[in-house]
Amino acid sequence: MPGERKVKRNLYGRCAADTVERVTVAARAKGLTKTYGSGDAVVTALDGVDFDIVQGEFTAIMGPSGSGKSTLMHLMAALDTPTSGEVWLGDTAVGSLADTPLTKLRRERVGFVFQAFNLVPTLTARENIVLPLSIAGKPVDEEWFDRIVDVLGLRDRLTHKPSELSGGQQQRVACARALMNRPDIVFGDEPTGNLDSTSAAEVLTFLRRSVNEFNQTVVMLTHDAHAASYADRTVFLSDGRIVDELRNPSHSDLLRAMARLYPSPFTPQGPEADGIYRDGGSIPERRDDWLDDVETTAERSIARRALLD
Ligand SMILES: Nc1ncnc2c1ncn2[C@@H]1O[C@H](COP(=O)(O)OP(=O)(O)OP(=O)(O)O)[C@@H](O)[C@H]1O
Ligand SMILES: [Mg+2]
Repeated sequence: MPGERKVKRNLYGRCAADTVERVTVAARAKGLTKTYGSGDAVVTALDGVDFDIVQGEFTAIMGPSGSGKSTLMHLMAALDTPTSGEVWLGDTAVGSLADTPLTKLRRERVGFVFQAFNLVPTLTARENIVLPLSIAGKPVDEEWFDRIVDVLGLRDRLTHKPSELSGGQQQRVACARALMNRPDIVFGDEPTGNLDSTSAAEVLTFLRRSVNEFNQTVVMLTHDAHAASYADRTVFLSDGRIVDELRNPSHSDLLRAMARLYPSPFTPQGPEADGIYRDGGSIPERRDDWLDDVETTAERSIARRALLD
């Protein structure tokens, strides 16, 4: 069972001496496997993953399209059930819960931000932000609401409907909604995937501030090294397995790791890559040639379960 544990960390991956510190595990995956289909058509989306999410940290999960990022998030957020393995949210073994306590756990202990903002079009920004509380029949903590709205700069947009808001403003509303019930963990599945770079920076800055100022635990899936550079820790997935992890990497550390872990005809390798990355100035802003932004029907139905169940 998770709880407090001691970890040996090589901070920034650069310190000569390891440091030992005490962390609280917000969620844990043990031997997590998810397969789809059967026989010859079987797809192993996740392959025996062991993974701890540390409380009060901003964790990024990176990997090419199809590497299992969303599958891992859906299992850890209790939106889907594993083929084998176990998930704990805090000390709760998620697999042992019946439907009703599971829905309650999702509603009360997990917040979600998706790539498509998934706001209810007929509701105002304020109504969307407090929607999880309205559904649960709970009162709004107005002080907390004010704090979130002010940090997100949404004060003068609260009476607007989503169609009257920019993409960045809509995603900030979705962030506010995710934090409104003070969840143990906020999960973001490509939360900046549909945003221009300025709006993306606003959302990433907010997620970072929510960790620094509210001690929020945040897990973000992303293709984008720039987005991941806001996180404390980045975990790399490939073919349903965790293949590497970096603490406090810079943007260029992340690009280097991606070039090493995900070779592709478009990603410079070997001496060529070394030249590019040593040179610093010629590091490309994005290296997401495997980006696939298409949201599937399955993803929409997961979002519906996460937000409206
Ligand atoms: N409902 C499903 N039925 C069958 N296969 C699925 C299903 N959901 C996911 N998969 C498969 O599992 C693998 C992992 O998918 P997943 O959605 O977790 O990847 P991802 O890393 O989130 O990719 P992306 O970056 O494109 O969102 C893929 O091969 C995908 O095709
Ligand atoms: Mg995905």
